[in-house]
Amino acid sequence: MRYLTFALTKGRLAYKTLELLEQVGITCEEMKDKSSRKLIFVNEEKKLRFFLAKGPDVPTYVEYGAADIGIVGKDTIMEEGRKLYEVLDLGYGACRMCVCGPESARPFLNHGQLIRVATKYPNIAKDYFYNRKNQTVELIKLNGSIELAPIVGLSEVIVDIVETGSTLRENGLQVLEEICPLSARMVVNPVSMKMENERITGLIQALKQIVSREQRSVK
Ligand code: PRP
Repeated sequence: MRYLTFALTKGRLAYKTLELLEQVGITCEEMKDKSSRKLIFVNEEKKLRFFLAKGPDVPTYVEYGAADIGIVGKDTIMEEGRKLYEVLDLGYGACRMCVCGPESARPFLNHGQLIRVATKYPNIAKDYFYNRKNQTVELIKLNGSIELAPIVGLSEVIVDIVETGSTLRENGLQVLEEICPLSARMVVNPVSMKMENERITGLIQALKQIVSREQRSVK
């Protein structure tokens, strides 16, 4: 049996992902050691390998087949536009992609003005403004703390992730329009899906049961 390789997103999602995998009997003790600088972890018994990568790199590893399976946010999947199968909504990491700004920027969105939009997600922002709203905008790519942009006058609005809304509130900004809901997803390399169909669909089914059980208990 060959190894199945998982690319997991570093950071916030990683902990929840390990918890979920544990519930289907997939454990990787080595990976929990936060002080370790090791990059790849192996579960010999189940012939599985895991590595942690930066979110935007996860779809890249999966598209090229360096990982068979990836766990990554829907925002990153949309932004990267890679060729992969999105097979399961894992439910956690739930948040929304939104157009945000000060209340005073709202009219700019209703009258199709040429405004500046700062974002870490230029492809999502471009698709939203050009294809869904038919509004020409100037996109400004940033790498973090996006909420700063309208405060210091770099842009009129931002396209960013809103989870609890506290970053917006604490900075006097609002959600002006909602683009789409987001959460963690499982993605699969199309060739792996064919070659390792039994193992991968078995895993999807097992995860599906856990995820729907958790969603029922939340409701
Ligand atoms: C994300 C996002 C918002 C914030 C939203 O940033 O870009 O800034 O979280 O969360 P909230 O609605 O719960 O306040 P992140 O902390 O990932 O860091 P970044 O600013 O470096 O992108």
